Amino acid sequence: MLIISEVNSVKRQVRKAVFPVAGLGTRFLPATKASPKEMLPIVDKPLIQYGVEEAVAAGVETLIFIIGRTKNAIADHFDKAYELEVELETRGKADLLEIVRNIVPPKVECVYVRQAEALGLGHAVLCARPVVGNEPFAVILADDLIEEDPSEGGALSQMTRYFNKYQCSILGVERVPKSETQKYGIVHPLPFATRLSNVDGIVEKPKPENAPSNLAVVGRYILTSRIFDLLENTPRGAGNEIQLTDGIAALLNEEQVLAYEFSGRRHDCGSKLGYLVATVEYGLRHPELGDRFRAYLQTLTGHLGGAGLPAED
Ligand code: UTP
Repeated sequence: MLIISEVNSVKRQVRKAVFPVAGLGTRFLPATKASPKEMLPIVDKPLIQYGVEEAVAAGVETLIFIIGRTKNAIADHFDKAYELEVELETRGKADLLEIVRNIVPPKVECVYVRQAEALGLGHAVLCARPVVGNEPFAVILADDLIEEDPSEGGALSQMTRYFNKYQCSILGVERVPKSETQKYGIVHPLPFATRLSNVDGIVEKPKPENAPSNLAVVGRYILTSRIFDLLENTPRGAGNEIQLTDGIAALLNEEQVLAYEFSGRRHDCGSKLGYLVATVEYGLRHPELGDRFRAYLQTLTGHLGGAGLPAED
């Protein structure tokens, strides 16, 4: 294990973010037959756009989408839509025109890389190598929707602050019920500051009795480019896929890797229940719809705000 140290020499910054969106999304079929699950909307914005906004707020300048079978949907969403803009302009819909034009700020670049076969998350990340090069980079799994903390910012902004200080890979982690460790990569943490640990080991989907902790790796990572060499040599693991967790397990034998418990509620929108809960919560907070939606739910349930929300599966 490597020694925790603050780095004061030339500091690297996280300027690129990888968005793997080439998974099969089987849990959402048939909705994901022709469009990736990251295009599912939460009220009026697709999941991928929430992820992109989080990355841009954290200072990311290049967005790298790893696209698969349903390759056009994501590129179309982030591309300029000339006909739509002209139509909105003609109809005098200035507010909608503004929304459509500002999906990505002008200084931010979008790059699309094709993952020809869904060989796993580790393989999807490896596909980004030619664009990322030797820089540290972020990975965002947009189906993990993380609410922004009003005082600390988005999860990736919180993580980049620690990256700037420690200059090493950082995994976004969350405490999960011990009974759910089998759904996640679980770290063995050596805590050294509030919400910050050195990662001493990582296990993919352990049974509760074998889990080294209840700190689960969720869809936010900052990684050094060394991970690419390791992923090149990572054999297929669980599900016959190249697992990012296996690459990270190899990385932490060589480099310091931190686990950071971000602040902000996460919604697992890769699961149907998590997706529905997120839709209701974002609907209730929506500036135009919130009040009417709350009134509707109150008539529907008669006791909204009483029983609390179910756990997301
Ligand atoms: P998931 O494990 O959620 O798999 O992938 P999935 O295929 O998207 O969904 P289900 O389980 O079949 O419903 C985690 C992330 O990795 C991406 C997915 O798009 C998702 O963002 N991924 C996964 C790839 O880009 N390529 C792959 O080969 C596998």
